[in-house]
Amino acid sequence: MKTTALTLGALAFAMGLGLSPAATQADDEGAIKHRQAVMKAVGGNMGAMVAILKGQVGFMEDMPLHARAMNDLAQISARIFPQGSDFGETDAKEAIWEKPDAFKQRVQAFQDAAAALTKVAGSGDKGAIGGAIGNLGKSCKGCHDDFRKEHRH
Ligand code: HEC
Repeated sequence: MKTTALTLGALAFAMGLGLSPAATQADDEGAIKHRQAVMKAVGGNMGAMVAILKGQVGFMEDMPLHARAMNDLAQISARIFPQGSDFGETDAKEAIWEKPDAFKQRVQAFQDAAAALTKVAGSGDKGAIGGAIGNLGKSCKGCHDDFRKEHRH
């Protein structure tokens, strides 16, 4: 077991070194995969919160956990659009890099809406929570409308 772990560690390290000279393409693809994974997590937490809010499941006590996760992911979302990650299997529009100020505002709106949700998520007040989730949803749509291509999958 110990040998395997060491071997795998050494292999990962060697691969990392081996990749460094001509890694541009691989890194761009990695950045896209990472971005989509982060966005899936955003979508997953959103879906879970909506199901709770609609009463499809109990778990109202989990609302603050989802809200915190969303708040963390909103922070991460500022870093998932590096230059060069605009081609390949991505729905990200060129406009992200062409209009960085407008895009930053969308990220900020997302972060603000997620932060606002964390303030009410534990209140048990369905009206307040629903309102905050609604605002959060508007921040998703605002960015997707301008900066995300028509969804492929
Ligand atoms: C600042 C812009 C922005 C915000 C805010 C934003 N998104 Fe996205 N989202 C994108 C972009 C751009 C893509 C396409 C990413 C790609 O394909 O590389 C995307 C992709 C997605 C995907 C598809 C991921 C995949 O490839 O499977 C989901 C699901 C998603 N977003 C959900 C959400 C939800 C829910 C919110 C709000 C809580 C949100 N997004 C907020 C820009 C944003």
